[in-house]
Amino acid sequence: MFRDSFKYYKSRNPAPDLDDVIDLESPEHVRVRKIEANVSDKQTEDNFGLTSAEKWTIYELLNIPGLIFIQNPFTPNGQRYWITKCLKDYSKEPYKLNIDAHNILANETWWEICFQMSERDKILLPKLRWATLGYHHNWDTKLYSESSKSDMPIELSGLTSILARTLGFSDFKAEAAIVNYYRMNSTLAGHTDHSEMNITAPLFSISFGQTAIFLIGGPKQEDPANAIFLRSGDVIIMSGNSRLRYHGVPKILSASKTPWNDNCENSCENCTYSYDDWRKARTYIAEARININIRQVLEPGQIVLY
Ligand code: OGA
Ligand code: MN
Repeated sequence: MFRDSFKYYKSRNPAPDLDDVIDLESPEHVRVRKIEANVSDKQTEDNFGLTSAEKWTIYELLNIPGLIFIQNPFTPNGQRYWITKCLKDYSKEPYKLNIDAHNILANETWWEICFQMSERDKILLPKLRWATLGYHHNWDTKLYSESSKSDMPIELSGLTSILARTLGFSDFKAEAAIVNYYRMNSTLAGHTDHSEMNITAPLFSISFGQTAIFLIGGPKQEDPANAIFLRSGDVIIMSGNSRLRYHGVPKILSASKTPWNDNCENSCENCTYSYDDWRKARTYIAEARININIRQVLEPGQIVLY
């Protein structure tokens, strides 16, 4: 049952045995089908922080039909770009944050206040848990509405559209995103994502920073669940039959590799972020995980919600 597995992996004492966690870095132990990237479009290296798609390793899990896994398709520089974007740009207006309700930010942004090494940032830094972009997910009603939305950041729509086209989901439109910020002791309770009008469109989920144990069950709470490691850069796509399955994050583990630190010479000539920003983001991500969860809300051809 989903709840029992969640408790098992969440437990600190005793710590869980991780032998049964699906590790797609060692796919020989997992029942998978290899998927070839659709590389009909011309793709250049470092497009939105991605390597070129011929190099990607893509699997569908045979036990969870429709669940597609892309093993970290990002360059190290691309990881730094997206981590910095999530921390600096997606954590302020016009996007919505969990900390808006706490009224702790006056005219400052979370990013401006944090990383000053003051007592105040120590308190504020871990308080950021989510940001919503595009159609804002309403956590209470679980509904989207025309009266609560921002533009989608164009670079995030661009990134998602490359991922979607490479997998053959050419009609996908990124209309809403949730950025989840996890500290080492954070969890995300089991849930299904059914608020979107269009539940036939896939859901894209991108992970950066520390490693997650991602738990995915079946359509019902009672169904058994599988645990999967999600590491920095990994992308999963919940499509088809897997789109409405229960899932959650019972545990964050310290990553054994830190690809976001690779090939970083302090010069930053070709970088799309400033070194000062990266220095701050790097301290944050050393003890955190960021997940960007991107959805299509509307039916094909639909222009507004009603
Ligand atoms: C979500 C979600 C999973 C993750 O935001 O709906 O399921 O890996 N996130 O953080
Ligand atoms: Mn979800």
